[in-house]
Amino acid sequence: MKTPETLLSRLQRIMPPGIEPKFRTADELLAWNRSEGEKRSAELVKENQRTRAERILGRSGICGLHRNCSFANYRVVNDGQRQALSRAKSYAQNFGMGFGSFVFSGGCGTGKNHLAAAIGNHLLKLGHTVLVVTVPDLMLRVRRCYDGGESESSLLDDLCKVDLLVIDEVGVQRETRAEWVILNQIIDRRLSSLKPVGVLTNLNAEELTNVLGARVMDRLTMDSGIWVSFTWGSYRKNVTHSRLTK
Ligand SMILES: Nc1ncnc2c1ncn2[C@@H]1O[C@H](COP(=O)(O)OP(=O)(O)O)[C@@H](O)[C@H]1O
Ligand SMILES: [Mg+2]
Repeated sequence: MKTPETLLSRLQRIMPPGIEPKFRTADELLAWNRSEGEKRSAELVKENQRTRAERILGRSGICGLHRNCSFANYRVVNDGQRQALSRAKSYAQNFGMGFGSFVFSGGCGTGKNHLAAAIGNHLLKLGHTVLVVTVPDLMLRVRRCYDGGESESSLLDDLCKVDLLVIDEVGVQRETRAEWVILNQIIDRRLSSLKPVGVLTNLNAEELTNVLGARVMDRLTMDSGIWVSFTWGSYRKNVTHSRLTK
């Protein structure tokens, strides 16, 4: 086996002139090796987490339709959208400082998924794990556990390990009691372990409190948690309307 000295002197011999070496002594070489090793193992841990997050639903964290959504391509034509954009942006920038969650509440097509995906895409680039899932898809996945004779507890464990879990379409369907219990369990477990949740819903604060309960609602908006109301009309309608009138 080569000692650091001989490796170092060989490197110095073959290094072209004018190149600044990262290390000059054997100790520096060892320290550099160690820190590169640590960096690589941190990358591997993240990579494993990402693979595990992707395995939960058999797909990547953000669905195709919203994979290209960013803060930059979110169009602002009113004050509400300006505020929603700025709050979503600062949520993404401050992610990890606290354990705040977010609730985006409003009608269909107002851009809730767009801004949630923009947050998610920003965090994915930083190496965080993110999963955006609709309530119906989540329930299908839970049912698959039951049908396969497994308990849902390892699924819940996995859902709790993701850095950001965004639950979409909360309140769109009338869920059964058992489904609300699962949903509450997921949110409650994440919040108890100080892991944030994003909730996208067409319900207002009172309606959402009725379905999630006051305790979960309190936790969702405490710390640096945010509530954003999307009060304007559907973006899809604008697009079709302007296309039709062109
Ligand atoms: N302000 C906006 N700027 C650019 N695209 C938008 C904006 N609002 C919505 N969209 C786009 O319109 C479509 C519907 O928006 P979406 O975020 O899915 O709405 P919601 O989740 O509120 O129902 C998506 O393709 C989204 O990217
Ligand atoms: Mg949506």
